[in-house]
Amino acid sequence: MPATVVVGTQWGDEGKGKLTDLLAREMDVVVRYQGGHNAGHRIVVGGEAFALQLVPSGVLYPHITPVIGNGVVVDPKVLLDEIDSLSAKGVDCSRLLVSGNAHLIMPYHQELDRLTERFLGKNALGTTKRGIGPAYADKSARVGLRVQDLLDPKIFRQKLDVVLHEKNLILSKVYNRLPMKADEIAAKYLDVYAGRLAPMIADTVTFVHDALAEGKRILLEGAQATFLDLDHGTYPFVTSSNPVAGGAATGSGLGPRDLGRVVGIAKAYITRVGAGPFPTELDGEMGDLLVERGHEFGTNTGRRRRVGWFDAVMARQAARLNSLSEIAITKLDVLDTLEEIKVCVAYEAGGVRYEYPPYHQSVLHDVTPIYEVVPGWRSDLSQFTRFEDLPREARDYIAFLREKIGVPIATVGVGPGREQFVRP
Ligand code: GDP
Ligand code: IMO
Ligand code: MG
Repeated sequence: MPATVVVGTQWGDEGKGKLTDLLAREMDVVVRYQGGHNAGHRIVVGGEAFALQLVPSGVLYPHITPVIGNGVVVDPKVLLDEIDSLSAKGVDCSRLLVSGNAHLIMPYHQELDRLTERFLGKNALGTTKRGIGPAYADKSARVGLRVQDLLDPKIFRQKLDVVLHEKNLILSKVYNRLPMKADEIAAKYLDVYAGRLAPMIADTVTFVHDALAEGKRILLEGAQATFLDLDHGTYPFVTSSNPVAGGAATGSGLGPRDLGRVVGIAKAYITRVGAGPFPTELDGEMGDLLVERGHEFGTNTGRRRRVGWFDAVMARQAARLNSLSEIAITKLDVLDTLEEIKVCVAYEAGGVRYEYPPYHQSVLHDVTPIYEVVPGWRSDLSQFTRFEDLPREARDYIAFLREKIGVPIATVGVGPGREQFVRP
């Protein structure tokens, strides 16, 4: 059976953790294919919350093998801390596999992420300051250290010495910082992290292909989202990897024909953390209301998320960029108190109507959203378990979104809990 991909269709935090956990009931393997601990995937089970950063969201099930794929950037300390805190909550992480080809986030990556952001001043991207961008930059520049280098101290040290020489020049001469010491970094990575990670380091490409050949069901869990994609997002206000479904192949080692179902995920409205264009952004009372009702603060960073009305222009673009077979709409319950709800169905700029995002970003910055207004349902959706039982206005809203996106809606979230969803 071909693999299934879960992909964010907005600017992140759509509920990929919850959906992955839901779909994982019928899977055998869950692979994270890109990103790093910039991700925060929250799952709520029986009132207990788990906020996952690097460990794939299938980990809560004993039948799942969680895999960190080659496309991920791994901060070993964060990964080990996450494993420890999951274990303390009774979650068994012993099946976790980490690709030897995944790149390591090093201390200078995090430092350079912070410094570059400060250097950009008012043009800062608002990154998570986790070292994600600098780690992917080193991967592309072919000076990155990989997880497998932890298994070969001599090679690790050689590579570290070469790259740290350059990083220290940048840190000291450009940013006026103290240079970092190779001995100290090596002591942590080789003497502390390597020993604990070694049993998890694997040839995950062979593992996923063997799993497919044995008829196992594989779920590829995206982090970030389509409009944070390095190629297809609102560049430069993006992350440094490819969250789009195509990235699931590169980031796991499966071939394009090994991927079958692609499940997109979108909130019933939209949010963004960090800087960048946001055509349907809401300020004022309505914005505050959605932030408050949706608890729109970063899962990891605690930053307040920007909020806006559902943007069908972006959703249509996400449908084609990811070849979505279906879409899940989450957080419908957040709109429970609204008298009316707006949906952006197209953009207008310079007398031109856009059904898809304009190719030129300067135009995107200036578009005016064209809204259609639909009635709200003004009742509590959180207890519903069947789509048919939802108030008519809520069902109509979902039907309206389906028509505007052009993709079937398979799941609708009505609360954060594992069981809080209905199927149209
Ligand atoms: P991810 O990064 O895509 O996994 O999403 P996050 O976990 O960062 O953010 C989604 C937030 O919404 C989390 O706090 C979830 O617990 C919560 N959530 C997910 N689905 C629903 C839903 O249908 N309704 C409500 N009210 N909350 C939801
Ligand atoms: P999940 O997987 C929301 C945003 C940052 C910033 C930009 C670049 O939980 O949906 P980075 O640290 O990646 O270089 O920051 O991307 N960003 C996210 N926003 N959800 C995420 O992950 C994000 N990961 C990165 O806020 O604007
Ligand atoms: Mg998140």
